[in-house]
Amino acid sequence: MRMTDKTYRVIQWATGKVGTIALRHFIENPIFELAGVLVTDASKAGKDAGEIAGTGSTGILATDDVETIIATRADCVHFAPARQDIEMVCRLLRSGKNVVSALGPFYPTDRCRADLEAIEAACRDGATSFHGFGIHPGFAGDILPLTLMRVMERVDHIHIYEVVDQLANPSNYIEIMGFGRDCEELLASPSRQPEAPYFFAQSMALVAESMGRTIDNLTTKLEVVSAKRDIPYPGGVVKAGTVAGQHYEWTGWYRGAPLITYHFYWKMGDQDLSEKWSCGDTGYRIVIEGNPPMELTMPEPKTTEGGVRYISLWTAMAGVNAIPALCEAPPGFASHRELGVFGPQGLTGRRPAQSGTFSSPELEP
Ligand SMILES: NC(=O)c1ccc[n+]([C@@H]2O[C@H](COP(=O)([O-])OP(=O)(O)OC[C@H]3O[C@@H](n4cnc5c(N)ncnc54)[C@H](OP(=O)(O)O)[C@@H]3O)[C@@H](O)[C@H]2O)c1
Repeated sequence: MRMTDKTYRVIQWATGKVGTIALRHFIENPIFELAGVLVTDASKAGKDAGEIAGTGSTGILATDDVETIIATRADCVHFAPARQDIEMVCRLLRSGKNVVSALGPFYPTDRCRADLEAIEAACRDGATSFHGFGIHPGFAGDILPLTLMRVMERVDHIHIYEVVDQLANPSNYIEIMGFGRDCEELLASPSRQPEAPYFFAQSMALVAESMGRTIDNLTTKLEVVSAKRDIPYPGGVVKAGTVAGQHYEWTGWYRGAPLITYHFYWKMGDQDLSEKWSCGDTGYRIVIEGNPPMELTMPEPKTTEGGVRYISLWTAMAGVNAIPALCEAPPGFASHRELGVFGPQGLTGRRPAQSGTFSSPELEP
């Protein structure tokens, strides 16, 4: 059977920025049949999924009861909660539902081995499959450079640039990332968790191992720039002299040479930074040094859609579009390498939504 002839019963797990976009797509794309919605926010429980997604009514009511969801028959769960919960992922897999998760794991590395083994065991029990999805990790730093280098004859060093402007799109990440902190103090004690590079190293390992190489070691750097003057934003003020820009640089090395570097530029606008970075516009940029040199940009459109950034849309769709392929895959953990080349289903011939906007109130990185 061709995939296009099939429909897939799906459950949306959590309706934040990513989950709400996926939910709306499940309601609107006829290849999907919405089977359930899990919410943690009690005020959303009992609401029609369409009310949460900003579409017409669906007859599917959101629930905060996990057991109801476990008992619901579905082909796949699009898992997008705020916190990782491998035990819950395994319950879903054992209950006979495939799972795509925005929280990974994305690719086997030593650091996520225990989670992977648990997932593999649950997949065996439930005859189901699992895929970790996202824009980064999950796309911009792994499958995208791998695809680009297929027309190259020599690869020297792969760079991925993620540029986020928190002044243009303020979010709670201004505080979480430590904007407004003392510069020296942030350098000594960065706001990003020490484990974060190893989380992204799953994407590095996917690239390296697909090329027949390994990531031998990982190094990290952090530079900050300060605010030239006070920078007001809706939730407060980044005071002059405090952190207004952060550049994290994580490099995976192979035999003493840098193979892949992830650059994360997070800033409070451009005008009032003590140093202007030439990091490009917001979005993602893939630069591959080699022959021929390769460069591809994924600029984030300046506009937002109903208050939701495209980074959330890219993330949501990375999971949604993998569902048909995952449902057809043999049981087990499926990274991009196992899923291989697949075509997203049901994207053509769709008209823009007639009514409603996304309901997520918060903006994000
Ligand atoms: N790989 C990538 O590239 C990538 C990119 C973006 C995001 N992500 C990940 O995707 C997930 C969703 O992102 P998002 O931007 O949609 O986040 P979000 O807007 O903060 O939404 C998360 C949702 O999780 C539920 N939730 C709230 N508190 C929770 C808790 N303590 N435990 C479990 N769930 C809770 C809520 O769902 P209800 O409102 O339905 O109750 C909330 O709306 C996050 O884990 C994020 O790290 C990955």
